[in-house]
This record gives sequence, structure tokens and C-alpha cells, in this order.
Amino acid sequence: MKYLITGGAGFIGSNFIHYLFAKYPDCEITNLDKLTYAGNLDNLKEFETKPRYKFVKGDIGDENLVDGLVANCDIIVNFAAESHVDRSILGPKEFVQTNVVGTQNLLEAAVKHKKRFHHISTDEVFGSLPLNSVEKFTAQTPYDPSSPYSASKAASDHLVRSYARTFGLQATITNCSNNYGPYQFIEKLIPLMYINAKLGKKLPVYGNGSNVRDWIHVEDHNAGVDVVLGKGKIGETYLLGGNAEKSNLEVVKTILKLMGKDDSLIEFVKDRPGHDLRYAIDSSQTEKELGWTRKHDFESGMRDTIAWYDAHEDWWRKLLSKDYLQYYEQQYKGR
Ligand code: NAD
Ligand code: TYD
Repeated sequence: MKYLITGGAGFIGSNFIHYLFAKYPDCEITNLDKLTYAGNLDNLKEFETKPRYKFVKGDIGDENLVDGLVANCDIIVNFAAESHVDRSILGPKEFVQTNVVGTQNLLEAAVKHKKRFHHISTDEVFGSLPLNSVEKFTAQTPYDPSSPYSASKAASDHLVRSYARTFGLQATITNCSNNYGPYQFIEKLIPLMYINAKLGKKLPVYGNGSNVRDWIHVEDHNAGVDVVLGKGKIGETYLLGGNAEKSNLEVVKTILKLMGKDDSLIEFVKDRPGHDLRYAIDSSQTEKELGWTRKHDFESGMRDTIAWYDAHEDWWRKLLSKDYLQYYEQQYKGR
């Protein structure tokens, strides 16, 4: 199988490439990635000289480049995106450009060359659930995005479905909950809190920390994507969740406990505008139809993740660059 993976130098995409080569050593992978601030070739060092792996630096919005790459693959798995909610609040334009326009460009090429297309999406397209309710998102939940990020992902999901219905594109979509695990870029909640605690800095928790996310280990997400590629019904949307709803405060306290650090490092800061209260996914349909199950529970998954960041200090220290720190300062200005 010849995969075209977009955004394969990011957090989930690079874990997917590790997953594929471990499970299907004979597969061929082309990784198309623009190498934005979030793309990191250090995530894929061990494949650099592998004949079955090819890296192409480029934009999913580049028509000629994408046309040639799509013509030469069997399947496209689209991870490429601007992915950080806070950045989408500071500057939404790139989110529309990559997540909407870029995805549409991939869809055009997939239709032209009659290729199978899988789109990676998020539970954030469904909006916010009330705190302290038992309601969960299902594939039937109407879209109600809150941030420019989730709105751009919602738009791209609609485009994928429209290309399936209108042009007969062989497409599937997965909407997954919050991921954690190795190689996550350092601006996201879990690595950010880990690094701040390591550096003796305050841990900025938005609002009162009661917002709830459903945390899934990235390997379980990627196993779900692989199952959908193999057994998913064309035209379907599958939900993948961690079955591990935790408030942000619980997550941050878990990290501190695993690191042997004190809760006094926690600092409550001004809330994110439009901050969704709660996400929770009902994955029972995916589990029943496709036999997908999770290998990691939250407690052991977090322990493994903290151990990974401990063992890969060079990896994350390299990312504490000037560019990133500038963003970080801008983000917390006035909080
Ligand atoms: P990430 O920000 O770590 O990685 C994104 C990658 O896409 C980077 O390598 C970046 O260089 C690349 N990229 C950005 N714009 C590009 C463009 N125009 N052309 C080519 N490459 C480009 O993101 P992630 O957390 O790995 O998320 C991957 C996908 O999974 C996204 O589509 C995201 O919406 C989705 N998702 C993420 C989560 C999560 O918890 N992180 C949960 C559900 C779904
Ligand atoms: P994040 O990792 O940005 O993912 P998302 O917004 O896509 O869910 O944030 C996860 C949760 O953690 C979210 O409710 C916002 C919160 N958060 C903080 O409280 N402090 C922080 O510094 C960050 C980055 C996030």
C-alpha cells in the first residue's frame, strides 16, 4: 500500500507513520508537510534513510505538487492542519487557508485520480456539552463549532462529505477527542504543563480549570484510523474517543503528581474566549461496527507519556525557541 500522509511531521501524523511502519513494514509512505512551527522532522529521524519513506516539504494547497503526489499513491490520509485553538483566536486566516482551502485542493486531486481519501477531524466540530451531564457526541450530533479552529475543521468535514456525495469520492472521516502521547508540540496542555513544571514556571490553567476534555492516547487514535482505512464503510464518519473525561485541573494535578511536584505551581489565568465547557465522545458505534478498542487507560497512558518526555529532554528543549517563546508571551499578555 502506498500512503500519502499529509502533516506527517506533526504530533499525530508522525505517530501514525511510526504506527504504519511498525505494523506494515512493507508499506510505502510519502509524507507531505509544510513544516510550519508545529512540523518537526526530529519526530521521524529513524526513517530518514529508509527507502520506503519519502519526505516532501510542501503545502497541501499547492495544486501542482499535490496533483503529482496524489497520482502516485493509493490512499491519502489528511492530518495536515493548523491545530491550536489559541492560535486560531490570535490569527484565524492560516486556519481557513490550510484547513479549508488546502483540504479542498487535496479533494480535487483525489477525485481526479480516483483515490481513496481519509480525513482526520476533531470532536471540537460539535461544540460544547454542558458540564455535569451524561450527554456525549455521536456521529449524528449536529455541528456547532465555537472557535475559528473548530469552524475551519467543520468546514473541511463538510467539504469531504460534499465531494463524496457530489463527485463519488471514496472518503471516510474520523472525529477524535483530545490526544496525548509522544511528540506532542509543546504549546498543547499536557506537554506545556510538563515543561513548565520542569522549568519551575507557573502552570497557567484557564478560568477555574473545570472544563472537561476526553483524553485518548495517540496510539489508540491511530489504531482507530487504521481500522477505518481497512474496514470503514465508504462515506461514513467514525467517532474515536478516550472514554476518559477529565477536568483540566485533574489533568494538571495528575501531571504534577507523576512528576513529584507541588500543586502550588498552578496559576489560574484569564479564560480562553469561547472556551468550550466539555467534550465527550460516544465511540460505541465504531467499537461495535469495526471492533476497535483502546489499549491505554488514562492513568497508565499518562505515566508512559511523562516517562517519554523525561527520556526525550533534548527533543523538547530544542523546541523552546525564540519564535515559540514570542508566541507564548503574546498568548499570556494581559491574562
Ligand atoms: P500538529 O499541529 O502537531 O501538526 C500539524 C502538521 O501539519 C504539522 O507538521 C504542520 O507542519 C503540518 N501543516 C500545517 N499546515 C500545512 C500545510 N498547509 N501543508 C502541509 N502541511 C501542513 O497537529 P496534530 O495535533 O498532530 O493534529 C493533526 C490532525 O489531527 C489535525 O487535522 C487536527 O485537527 C486533528 N486532531 C487533533 C487532535 C489533538 O488532540 N491534537 C484531536 C483530534 C483531531
Ligand atoms: P489544548 O491542548 O489547547 O486543546 P483543545 O483546546 O483543542 O482542547 O487545551 C486543552 C484544554 O486545556 C482546553 O480546555 C484549554 C486548556 N488549557 C489551559 O487551561 N491552559 C493552557 O495553557 C492550555 C494550552 C490549555
